[in-house]
Amino acid sequence: MCDSTKVESRFSQSTRSEHFEAMVRYLDGVDQIEGCQQFRRLVSGFIDGHEIRNVLEIGSGTGTQLNQLARTYPEISFTGLDISPQLVELATQRHGAGSNLDFRPGRGEALPFESRLFDAIICERVLQHCDTPADILSEMLRVARKGAHIILCEPDWTSLSVEHPDHATTRHMLDAYCSAIRSPAIGADLETLLKAAGVHSIQHHDILWRLPYPASDKVLGLNRMAELAINSGLDESDVSNWADTFRNAEVSAALPFHVAIGEAPQ
Ligand SMILES: C[S@@+](CC[C@H](N)C(=O)[O-])C[C@H]1O[C@@H](n2cnc3c(N)ncnc32)[C@H](O)[C@@H]1O
Repeated sequence: MCDSTKVESRFSQSTRSEHFEAMVRYLDGVDQIEGCQQFRRLVSGFIDGHEIRNVLEIGSGTGTQLNQLARTYPEISFTGLDISPQLVELATQRHGAGSNLDFRPGRGEALPFESRLFDAIICERVLQHCDTPADILSEMLRVARKGAHIILCEPDWTSLSVEHPDHATTRHMLDAYCSAIRSPAIGADLETLLKAAGVHSIQHHDILWRLPYPASDKVLGLNRMAELAINSGLDESDVSNWADTFRNAEVSAALPFHVAIGEAPQ
């Protein structure tokens, strides 16, 4: 099981008020990234083409995606679940608890729902923060109706590229960064994960998040990246020079996301 107290720092901090505002600013900023919008258009297009009565989102965060969907599809009922009670409160304040929209606290590894309830389950940028994504998938399949649609979207941090002129230090920086993420290659492993759980009819979509500076700094968190690199043994002055060049040369980055959509076993 993935211990909620060990969920990767950026999200465990979301329950600590001194970091909460920064966390919400981060999530709101990410919402504006074209790659993020692309996933949302994809989900909407998918819902358009299928008969769906109810949808669960695991890791619903600020609730922006679910709110957009609830407004677009008033006949479908949407439930958002998040490990952070503070984010659940914020999502409810921002979007209200509409007749077809509900947010509640809980862990993806122990869903507070009866079995075979949902027609579609979305989980976006959550499994990367968990040691054992298979535990969340197994819970998803428990609460999914037979043939329900499982929609996953995760990055492959091991394929992150950063256009920094110092390639050697960049490699070390990215390795240190990846080692702080619980499941950094989960995006690339989605198909294996789904197939092992018996999910079938899997479709794939690839989305590239292009991050021109300063989005590269905002999403990667340059200060945190530097801290991780120094903690992993990189020379402090090398890291500092690397970070200065990153800012001065306005370095951009690109992060691949993998989307896999499949059907729950019968
Ligand atoms: C990157 S955010 C994604 C937010 C959302 N998908 C969106 O579009 O805004 C990841 C979310 O997953 C939540 N989370 C992390 N681990 C979780 C777990 N084990 N169970 C439920 N939620 C979790 C975090 O609190 C955070 O809100």
